Amino acid sequence: MDFSFTDDQLSIQSIARDFASKRIAPVAAEFDASGKFPLDNIQEMGQLGLMGIEVPTEYGGAGMDTTSYVLALIEIAAADAAHSTIMSVNNSLFCNGILTHGTQDQMQKYVKAIATGEAIGAYALTEPQSGSDASNMHTRAVKSEDGSHYLINGKKSWITSGPVARYIVLFAITKPGIGAKGVSAFIIDTETEGFHRGKTEPKLGIRASATCEIEFENYKCPAENLLGKEGEGFKIAMGVLDAGRIGIASQAVGISRAAYEATLEWSRERKAFGKPIGSFQMTQSKIADMKCRLDTSTLLTLRAAWAKEQASKNGGRFGTEASVAKLVASENAMWITHQAVQIHGGMGYSKEMPLERYFRDAKITEIYEGTSEIQRMVIARNETGLR
Ligand code: CAA
Repeated sequence: MDFSFTDDQLSIQSIARDFASKRIAPVAAEFDASGKFPLDNIQEMGQLGLMGIEVPTEYGGAGMDTTSYVLALIEIAAADAAHSTIMSVNNSLFCNGILTHGTQDQMQKYVKAIATGEAIGAYALTEPQSGSDASNMHTRAVKSEDGSHYLINGKKSWITSGPVARYIVLFAITKPGIGAKGVSAFIIDTETEGFHRGKTEPKLGIRASATCEIEFENYKCPAENLLGKEGEGFKIAMGVLDAGRIGIASQAVGISRAAYEATLEWSRERKAFGKPIGSFQMTQSKIADMKCRLDTSTLLTLRAAWAKEQASKNGGRFGTEASVAKLVASENAMWITHQAVQIHGGMGYSKEMPLERYFRDAKITEIYEGTSEIQRMVIARNETGLR
């Protein structure tokens, strides 16, 4: 077993760290307060290759591996979770799905636009009445008699980057009454008639990552925008989420690391009863546990990246490793940021320091791309073979 990284992996990590420290960290609090979408930064990140790290260079990406993606995403998330959410959706949920199931034309047209930062992508699975039970969707796509297009009607909710996305990977029912097997995937151009955006969600954290409802009203989707085959949509959605969950685990690691590093500094500087608070055993105990959890999250996330790389070379799945990483890293992020706020005391609760933002941002990692309860269900099903 080799714990070292390649020169390429270290190089993208360094590019991401440099951008994060110079361009994201100084404005993170401002974007959190305003809830404004950081479009300029996202476009620049696209130019640096950060919006399509695993996308081959001929489609505008950096042509690198999953470990590179994880290392870069951790750096961005450590500076601002909202930026890392947008990066993760573009990379994992949008580009990855089209790369694994799309045609050459779809890759040229849609993946390139997102990977280069020219446009923003999104992924639309959840509906107002179906979240964890994702196959219980109502959005309907009906093929026209001449086969040239699908007419789509329905509503999707909690769409990350929905307010600004140009292209969306959408899941809709093409054959009703047969559950998951009746779902198909489509690539949607939001500039086509029949696409509407609904209310933007006012959120607890990742506030600069815009989220909204979207609606399709007699939306004509060209048949060539079907992704994969009819009826394969649910499997595409699940496979894409396996990759997405590695992104969320990386995000959780980045938030945890930022909270941990701030706490180390604070515990050395802040004095109580005439000593740095880091010299008290109760603080030391917390710091040791934070470090153990941060390392656990990091190692499991890198293992999931490795499992995905193996699966892409040899076939097979990496869903268990992705769910284990996402579950552990997200729950650890919540725990670590909680301890970090506690050790900072009043300053942890104040908006003058970023700790309260880390705490708010960490919560979403336990919810989106499958709640902790769903991750436990996926892991146990995969391990036991029972349903
Ligand atoms: N890869 C490929 N295929 C898969 C798969 C995977 N990881 N997981 C399941 N499948 C296949 C199954 O094999 C099955 O196919 P067969 O019938 O041919 O065997 C089919 O998909 C249906 O699977 P299940 O019967 O297991 O489906 P289910 O209805 O019981 O649901 C679930 C399973 C795990 C609960 C799933 O619904 C799930 O993951 N729910 C959570 C949804 C979720 O994560 N939503 C997040 C929204 S997106 C988001 O948050 C993005 C964002 O904005 C940032």
